[in-house]
Formats: sequence, C-alpha cells, structure tokens
Amino acid sequence: MINIRTAEEIELLRKSNLLVSETLAEVAKRIAPGVTTGELDKIAEEFINDNDAKPGFLGYNGYPKTLCTSVNEQVVHGIPSGIVLKEGDIISIDCGVLLNGYYGDTAYTFAVGEIDENKKRLLKITKESLFLGIEKAIEGNRTGDIGYAVQEYCEVNGYSVVRELVGHGLGTNLHEPPEVPNYGRRGRGPKLKAGMVICIEPMINMGRKEIIQEADGWTIRTADRKASAHFELAVAIQKDKADILSTFKYIEELLN
Ligand code: MF3
Ligand code: CO
Ligand code: CO
Repeated sequence: MINIRTAEEIELLRKSNLLVSETLAEVAKRIAPGVTTGELDKIAEEFINDNDAKPGFLGYNGYPKTLCTSVNEQVVHGIPSGIVLKEGDIISIDCGVLLNGYYGDTAYTFAVGEIDENKKRLLKITKESLFLGIEKAIEGNRTGDIGYAVQEYCEVNGYSVVRELVGHGLGTNLHEPPEVPNYGRRGRGPKLKAGMVICIEPMINMGRKEIIQEADGWTIRTADRKASAHFELAVAIQKDKADILSTFKYIEELLN
C-alpha cells in the first residue's frame, strides 16, 4: 500500500525535509581539507537536536551515526569516522531527521577544495539527472518513467547507474513503498498519484555499475573504485509538477 498524504501531512513532511536541507548547509560550512567525517556528523547531530528533532538514521537497522558520509569511490552508507578529508575528494552527505512524527531525507555530494574536471562533470550530470527524474514525478506517470529519465541521461553521458539501491516513499517511516529505481522502462512500475511522497536519489558511477559492501557491514563502494555521486530530494506528487519538499537552496547559497 502506497500512502497518500493529506495537505497537512505534506506540510509536516516539508518541515522535516527543510530541516534536513538546513542541516546539510550547516555541515557544508565545515567541509574542507583536514576535517574528519566524524566532526561533520557531530555538527549535524547537534543542529538536529537543537531544532527539537531526532536524527532519522541513528539506530535505523542498527546504523550508528546521524549522517552517511561517502567519499570518492564510496557510493552510500559510509559511516562517519576519523578519516580526514583531503583536497580533491568528493563526499556524499546523506541526512535524515524525524520531526513531529514525519521523516526528512536528503543528500548532496560536495567537492572538498578544488576537484578535477572529471569529478565536476560527474556531480553536474548526477544532479541534473535528479531534476530530470523529478520532472517525471507527476500524477499518472509511473516509477519507471522516473528511472528511465535518470538512466538515459546518465548513460548517454558515459556513466552507470547503481541498481541495488533505490529511492523510496517517505512519510512516518524512512522507507515506505514504492521503490523508486534510478533505471527502468517508461510506463512500468507503480502508478504515481497526487499526495504520494517519494525520495528520488540517483547513485551514479563514473565507471562500472557494480558495487560491493565493505567489511563494516554498511559502506557501499564501487567495485572498480572509480568515483560515485549521490543527490537526493523528497517530492510530493501533484497533477502537473512535483512539489519539491527539500531544497539545495541553503547549500548552494553558501557554495556560490
Ligand atoms: N541513504 C538512505 C536513504 O537515503 C538511508 C540510510 S539509512 C542508514 O534512503 F541507516 F544507512 F542510515
Ligand atoms: Co537519504
Ligand atoms: Co532516501
């Protein structure tokens, strides 16, 4: 069963997702060579608690931290630790919160200092693919329309799409139906209806699509150790245009 949210619930989901968006911007202020991912995690945890919310990932299936911090060849679910960021790295930061019973979930991949042109292009194409997916997130379309749009654009640009991890419904649970793959065929998959809330989160590899899980039981990295990027927004389905509940505005005001 895919939940249909009322207008009031969607406003609560917007609050949760805007708090995640602000949290990511707080973290972004501190991203620089020499900083550890563990320090970034502390900043996020404190900011979320100061805003009367709870970290959404902490304790989820036993996950130990507030953020997922995934560097370079790490795709997602990197665990914050003592590892030190260095000039030229890219880092996906994924954050969840629980506020008033509703989850927020958003991710952005940042450059650490100056990065090379190949990595810049990977970030640009991955983020653009997310917005192409969002364009398809309207009533009457199917999840396959979103996946197709993301996959087509990334593959035309020479990249590959991770298959094993997908976007998802978002609400009173972090992960709800439907699954929202970043690949697929037009016209396939569950039909989208107004009031559904989903997270679209392309995970795009510079090299091959294959991934492996590290021995820590969480971190996912590319099998070929080439770089990977990840962007995520939560959107509510409407008739003509998705209502984007989270935003990169706070982050990008800082970066520009
Ligand atoms: N990255 C996941 C998502 O965006 C959630 C991570 S759950 C955790 O849907 F437990 F790994 F933190
Ligand atoms: Co996420
Ligand atoms: Co998600």
